[in-house]
Amino acid sequence: MKKWTLNSWRNYPVKHIPEYEDEKKLNMVLKKVSSFPPLVFAGETISLKKSLAQVAEGKAFLLQAGDCAESFAEFHPDNIRDTFKVILQMALILTFSAALPVVKVGRIAGQFSKPRSSPIEIKDGKELPAYLGDNINGIEFSEKARKPDPMRLFKAYSQSASTLNLLRAFSQGGYADLRKVHLWNLGFVNKSPQGKKFKEIEDKISDALSFMEACGINPESNRRLRTVNFYTSHEALLLPFEQAMTRIDSTSGEYHDTSAHFVWIGDRTRQTNGGHVEFCKGIKNPLGIKCGPTLKDSELIKLCNILNSNNEPGRITLISRFGANNVEKFLPKLIRAIKKEGLNVVWSCDPMHGNTIKSANGFKTRPFNNIFKEVKRVLAVHQAEGSYAGGLHIEMTGQNVTECIGGAQKISEKDLSHRYHTHCDPRLNANQALELAFLISDEIKKNSQYSKNIIQAAS
Ligand code: PEP
Ligand code: CO
Repeated sequence: MKKWTLNSWRNYPVKHIPEYEDEKKLNMVLKKVSSFPPLVFAGETISLKKSLAQVAEGKAFLLQAGDCAESFAEFHPDNIRDTFKVILQMALILTFSAALPVVKVGRIAGQFSKPRSSPIEIKDGKELPAYLGDNINGIEFSEKARKPDPMRLFKAYSQSASTLNLLRAFSQGGYADLRKVHLWNLGFVNKSPQGKKFKEIEDKISDALSFMEACGINPESNRRLRTVNFYTSHEALLLPFEQAMTRIDSTSGEYHDTSAHFVWIGDRTRQTNGGHVEFCKGIKNPLGIKCGPTLKDSELIKLCNILNSNNEPGRITLISRFGANNVEKFLPKLIRAIKKEGLNVVWSCDPMHGNTIKSANGFKTRPFNNIFKEVKRVLAVHQAEGSYAGGLHIEMTGQNVTECIGGAQKISEKDLSHRYHTHCDPRLNANQALELAFLISDEIKKNSQYSKNIIQAAS
């Protein structure tokens, strides 16, 4: 086997990495980035891997959620706070139904680069390079904006650092205290059916906290009642940047990509002989692999063996994304292959990327019904195959956007133009995200995979 180095991915074919006009400038930026402080620390990454090992064993559930693409334009403390709030609310809803701890991972604080289905975009007969994410080029339809600019990496690093700073404050500084759940509902969610349903959970938590307080357990004496562990993640797409953020951890001597706790390999860049797989092989972070319709079972096994040769639980999360009507066609054979090889993995469901359609009025959208249908079918297939559906991976925001159609708010194609802010794929808004969590929670309660936990928790 050839030796892995920080640079070895450059000897393999890579897809979806931009060509920069000024290589000297790019190298100057990368050199500087490699001298910046790490965004996350190896100890945190290792504790996430341990939590994911619990998920792999069916003892916890993974919730991974956030933007498709973060942008410089949407960067605002309120947006960070609202996304964080909705993720906490979803996690609480799922904790209640599955009686399991929920591992919380945001697609946040570094989720910028995007692989695109076409390298070009044509508008009114004019052809330009496609938008690749705010850390690479600009979304404005002009020649200047669409030119990859290495200086954007500085801005992306700085935005990631301050996003993380705020997230750390929210999760450790009292905001996540279970006595404050009544503050998590967003103003516009409060009045909705989801807001009312969440209120019922608030009341139950309040009763449970009073009971525990009477027994001498309270948030002052028990840290876990007043803080949460919140982790960050993004697609490890822009390898020059990921390389610059990868450092040797002095305590273990291992390489960690310090740009996020968890990184994943996208469905378009998971070639077993490609640069993305080569790079991820050498870093010790927990890794995701997106599994789409073109992934063969033999390829999946090969990928797991390359990326996790020790079969370490928590290292690999397989994120299936087939589309609501394709689950039965593709998922069972992958599950069987993983079981046959005895590989330790977390199975997570991304019900977003296989369900994207174009509306009649030209918007990229996703029908809420199909998103829920995919989750339902994935849960059923895992139950039938005797494997554990351990996670959910979604694109959402805490904002009241109109990007996905349907849901209790009955967002129609006509509504899409009202608040369509995403820089890439359509996200669930706060109400839709909570609605999905409640619907999944009902499914979980019916599912025998989880009911053993509920019985254990009650006994
Ligand atoms: C994404 O998660 O935004 C994405 C591009 O997904 P996939 O690689 O599954 O298409
Ligand atoms: Co996306």
